[in-house]
Amino acid sequence: MTIDIRPITPEDIFAIVTLARATWLDAYAGIIPREQIDYMLAQRYDRAGLEADIENPEKWLHQALIDGVLAGFAACEICNEEFKLDKLYIHPGMQRNGAGAALVAHAAALARGHGHSGMILAVNKHNEQAIRAYIKYGFRVRDKIVTPIGGGFVMDDYIMEKRV
Ligand SMILES: CC(C)(COP(=O)(O)OP(=O)(O)OC[C@H]1O[C@@H](n2cnc3c(N)ncnc32)[C@H](O)[C@@H]1OP(=O)(O)O)[C@@H](O)C(=O)NCCC(=O)NCCS
Repeated sequence: MTIDIRPITPEDIFAIVTLARATWLDAYAGIIPREQIDYMLAQRYDRAGLEADIENPEKWLHQALIDGVLAGFAACEICNEEFKLDKLYIHPGMQRNGAGAALVAHAAALARGHGHSGMILAVNKHNEQAIRAYIKYGFRVRDKIVTPIGGGFVMDDYIMEKRV
């Protein structure tokens, strides 16, 4: 099995949005209400927003391919001067093959290359599968935050941190 990491280009956006939707519906059912999933997908995965992210020098979007097939993606950004892993999603049918680990290793190298000694992320407090993965990747819980995101919804997250 070969895992390749490549930058996301505008031509990839449709496939990435489709994968994001399938992964969110699988991962967040039972964790956040369906209306909030739809609201957050619309907020974070519109084409114009993703195209702007691709052009932004302080954001990095990468995809992982397993044997040439899109398996998942990650997005990183600078947030309050910290290097943040903002998105990490592997298609439900392709999880647990190391694609998540490969994207995190790639993000850590990017962070180091840009002069950061750490990388942070936010994860829903009830997303046990992801928390298990992040602990395995070397992240530890640093903080707890509740963030209003509009529409009457909040994100109820741990902030996790890893040295890179
Ligand atoms: C969390 C996620 C990114 C991990 O990526 P992955 O490619 O599936 O994981 P890896 O192959 O790198 O495995 C890393 C570890 O994650 C944990 N893990 C991943 N999937 C798991 C599952 N279904 N059940 C239990 N543990 C799981 C395990 O500890 C695993 O190590 P192991 O297989 O040696 O036991 C992926 O499962 C995913 O996309 N989940 C749904 C979306 C999500 O919650 N994203 C994070 C948002 S903050």
